[in-house]
Amino acid sequence: MVKVGVVGLGAWGWNVARSFAELRDCELVSCCDTDPKRVANAMKTWPTVKAKADIDELLREDSVEAVVISAPAVTHYELAHKVLSADRDVFIEKPFTLNVRDAETLAEMAERKNRVLMVGHLLEYHPVVRRLKKMIQDGELGEIYYIYTQRVNLGRIRGDENALWSFAPHDISQILYMLDMQPIDVSVRGQSFIQNGIEDVVFLSLYFENRIMAHIHLSWLDPHKVRKTTIVGERKMVVFDDTEATEKLRIYNNHAEVPQIRSYGDSIQVRFGDILIPRVETTEPLKIECQHFIDCVKNRTTPLSDARDGLRVIRILEAAQCSMEQDGVPVRIQGANSDKQHSSVISDRRWHALRV
Ligand SMILES: NC(=O)c1ccc[n+]([C@@H]2O[C@H](COP(=O)([O-])OP(=O)(O)OC[C@H]3O[C@@H](n4cnc5c(N)ncnc54)[C@H](O)[C@@H]3O)[C@@H](O)[C@H]2O)c1
Repeated sequence: MVKVGVVGLGAWGWNVARSFAELRDCELVSCCDTDPKRVANAMKTWPTVKAKADIDELLREDSVEAVVISAPAVTHYELAHKVLSADRDVFIEKPFTLNVRDAETLAEMAERKNRVLMVGHLLEYHPVVRRLKKMIQDGELGEIYYIYTQRVNLGRIRGDENALWSFAPHDISQILYMLDMQPIDVSVRGQSFIQNGIEDVVFLSLYFENRIMAHIHLSWLDPHKVRKTTIVGERKMVVFDDTEATEKLRIYNNHAEVPQIRSYGDSIQVRFGDILIPRVETTEPLKIECQHFIDCVKNRTTPLSDARDGLRVIRILEAAQCSMEQDGVPVRIQGANSDKQHSSVISDRRWHALRV
C-alpha cells in the first residue's frame, strides 16, 4: 500500500483524490486545501482521511509517502519544492512549473534525492494516444506530414494563467510523446479579449525535423466543445475525437498517390479507402495515470512523464509565451542537450531561410 496525500481539492484535484482513493494498492491518508470549505467537504466524503489546512501540516504526517499536487499552477514550484525537501515522492499536475529555471531546479532536486517526480501529462496515458503512437512508430501511417489539435469550448476562464499555459501542456506533451521528437521552433499568436494580458485564444505552430508541422488551437471562448487530434500521413490519416463516448478513433485509408515516373499530363491520384473504427480500451486515462505513479513509487522506477518530459514541455511553453509576446515571431527551442540554456528569440526573420 502506497500512502498518498493530495494537495488542492478544487475542480480537478477532487477527481484526482477520488481516483487515488479508489486504487487498490494505494491509500489516501491525507489531503489539504487552503479553502476551509473544501477541507470540510473532504472530511465528510472520506472520514478516515486526515484533511489539513495546508501542505506543512500534511507533510508533518509521517505516514504520507507520496504527495500529489493539484493546486493552481502558480503554486506548483513552491509546493513541489517543499515535498522534495521533505523527502517524499511527488506527482505534479500540469503545467509542471511556470518557467524553465524552476523546472530544472525541481528535476535536479528529485534526481539528487532519488525521488520519483511525475508530471500530470494525462494524454500520455490515454489508450487512444498510445495506439496512435504505436501506429506512427510502426510506420502504419507512412511518413508523417502534419498534425493539428483543437482544444476549445466555452469553458472556465482562468484569472491566473492564460489559455496557453492552461491547455497547451496537454497537446504539446501528446504530440512529443507520439512523434518522439523535439521541435525546432515555435510560433504563436494569441489574443486577450476578456481580461487584460490573459490570452483567451491561442494559435500555436510547432515545426519539427523532416518538415513535420503541428498546429494547436486553444480557446475557452468558443461555441463548440472540441477535443480533436488529426494526423495526416503519407499512407493514412487518423482522427482522434475525445468527445466521442466510444468511437474515439477513425482511421482513413486515404492518401495522395504520385506516379513513380511522372510524364507530362499525368495527374496525382487521390485515393479514398475504407474508414476503420477500431476498438480501443476504454479505461479512464486518469486511472491509468494514477496507477502508473503508484507503480513507480512502489518499484522505484522512472515515470513515463518524468521531470525530463515535464522540462521539455516547459521549454516549449516558455518559448511559445516569448513568441506570443512578439506577435508570432518564431522562437527556437533549445534541445535537451543544452539544459542550462533558456529559449532564445530568433528576432531575425532570416531564421526561416537559414533553416532550410
Ligand atoms: N490533467 C488535467 O486534465 C487537468 C484538468 C484540469 C486542471 N488540471 C490542473 O490541476 C490543477 C488544479 O486545477 P483545478 O481546476 O482543480 O483548480 P481549482 O482552482 O478548481 O482548484 C484549486 C484548489 O487548490 C486550492 N489551493 C490554492 N492554493 C493552495 C495551496 N497553496 N495549498 C493547498 N491548496 C491550495 C484552492 O483553494 C482550490 O480548492 C492545476 O494545476 C490545473 O492546471 C489538470
